[in-house]
Amino acid sequence: MSHLEPILRPARESDADAIAQLHARSWRASNRGIMSDTYLDGPVFEERHAVWRHRLADGDPRFLTFVAEARDGLHGFICFELDADPVWGTRLDNLHVDPRLCGRGLGDALMRVGIARVLEVAPDKALHLLVFEASAGARRFYERLGGHAESCVPESLPDGTGSVPAIRYVWPAPVTLAKP
Ligand SMILES: CC(C)(COP(=O)(O)OP(=O)(O)OC[C@H]1O[C@@H](n2cnc3c(N)ncnc32)[C@H](O)[C@@H]1OP(=O)(O)O)[C@@H](O)C(=O)NCCC(=O)NCCS
Repeated sequence: MSHLEPILRPARESDADAIAQLHARSWRASNRGIMSDTYLDGPVFEERHAVWRHRLADGDPRFLTFVAEARDGLHGFICFELDADPVWGTRLDNLHVDPRLCGRGLGDALMRVGIARVLEVAPDKALHLLVFEASAGARRFYERLGGHAESCVPESLPDGTGSVPAIRYVWPAPVTLAKP
């Protein structure tokens, strides 16, 4: 195992800054042309930092967050919101891998660790997420994991400029994601 191989662990309050930095970096790399340049080149970090500080400081039990941490910092994170929707159950709210490290299996590993915990606390709930229609790479990732594209819905942008089409992917029985 390389000394840079990350360990996957539950997020702590002290991770808020590093998660927000990675979140902003990932959005700058993957959402250019979807979110406004003004936002991506401006307040994206501050806005994400406020979200993560709040989420982790309160230890809000609705959210389950895991990070992939290596000696050189965070390589990725995943966050689920329990009971987010009366029909579609648990929501995968965020999954991000450092843009320099995509395509090496870390997204898949974060998904497995997160799903194992989700199945412990909400075994009978469906799983869903929204991904921008234009995010072809992420959509391929979720389709490879068996996600079913259920509908196309407007997704509000965090920069306040309106909404863009997003695909809702669903797993009616997320136990199917817990393959060995
Ligand atoms: C989507 C994401 C989490 C996947 O994590 P990952 O570690 O790159 O994924 P894995 O290595 O486990 O799996 C690779 C698969 O992911 C997909 N993929 C998505 N973006 C990719 C990228 N930039 N590079 C390589 N593969 C990517 C492909 O389907 C690839 O499979 P393929 O090579 O057979 O086509 C990651 O690419 C990412 O953080 N993207 C930007 C943020 C994002 O879009 N998040 C989802 C928001 S809902």
